[in-house]
Amino acid sequence: MFPMDSRVALVTGASSGIGEATVLELIRRGFVVYAGARRVERMAHLAERGARVIRLDVTDDESMTAAVTGILNDQGRIDVLVNNAGYGSYGAVEDVPIDEARRQFEVNIFGLARLTQLVLPTMRRQRRGTIVNISSIGGRIYEPLGAWYHATKYAVEGLSNSLRVEVEPHGVRVVLIRPGAIRTEWNEISRRSALEVSGETAYAAQAHALMRALTAADTETAPGPSVVAEAIGRAVDAAKPRIRYTVPFAAKAIVFARWLLPDRVFDAAVHRVFGVTAADRLAAEESAAGARVETH
Ligand SMILES: NC(=O)c1ccc[n+]([C@@H]2O[C@H](COP(=O)([O-])OP(=O)(O)OC[C@H]3O[C@@H](n4cnc5c(N)ncnc54)[C@H](OP(=O)(O)O)[C@@H]3O)[C@@H](O)[C@H]2O)c1
Repeated sequence: MFPMDSRVALVTGASSGIGEATVLELIRRGFVVYAGARRVERMAHLAERGARVIRLDVTDDESMTAAVTGILNDQGRIDVLVNNAGYGSYGAVEDVPIDEARRQFEVNIFGLARLTQLVLPTMRRQRRGTIVNISSIGGRIYEPLGAWYHATKYAVEGLSNSLRVEVEPHGVRVVLIRPGAIRTEWNEISRRSALEVSGETAYAAQAHALMRALTAADTETAPGPSVVAEAIGRAVDAAKPRIRYTVPFAAKAIVFARWLLPDRVFDAAVHRVFGVTAADRLAAEESAAGARVETH
């Protein structure tokens, strides 16, 4: 048995939002925390709080291998992997270039899977370890123009379920975290991608409707990332963690509605939330007119 204060964690996507809050939460809980992301300059304040900052790109095998090898060389163990790095690639299926769809899968699912492969031999040897995969309520529900993002989060759910029963006999635990709307940079990145990809196509009015709905969800009333970090902290410290943590409470209500409602009824609810209004049509016409002026 190792003393609790020598537990070692790696958090991906630590330069912002949920990952950044999780690094601070795990430091508070006594972990030695490695904070990984591409923008190392954004993690200087985490280093000041005791985090070991590493440059990590979850689309680059060499970068992931070097990160895990470095941790094992330094610490000789790894107890927690928080697979958090991710972004929302939005736009109509007809419009999103397949290379971008592949990139979405590289970051949101293959990076998570590769890091899992890299830590598992050590966790199995230790007969102890927790892999925390950040899914989303988007792994249970769906939005128009969100197909690729949702596809990756449904994949995170499917992979995590199989993985959980696969590694449980080896003493390794797998936990799914399903955040609802959280105030982070994710929102702006997702909205921007929808408008860039579909803002001037046959789906322009829907892109503006999505923009409006996502903006409405991203207000001061939406919780900040610490609510997710606290759930992750509770999960890794629990003697028997839950299989999934859906946070905040509003997210639980949405997942419950999805479970309760027949598909057609849920579709109607989605149309209501993301429905195109006259204002969306006008905004779409204006951006199309703007694009025409620019090209003349
Ligand atoms: N915010 C929400 O409403 C919400 C809801 C449900 C689920 N989630 C999920 O929560 C996770 C964290 O998102 P967030 O809301 O905290 O968004 P965020 O503030 O935009 O943070 C995303 C993090 O992912 C990192 N990242 C992106 N591409 C990467 C790559 N190739 N390699 C390594 N790191 C990469 C970014 O760091 P660098 O760019 O510096 O690499 C950044 O630190 C994501 O998986 C997201 O899908 C978010």
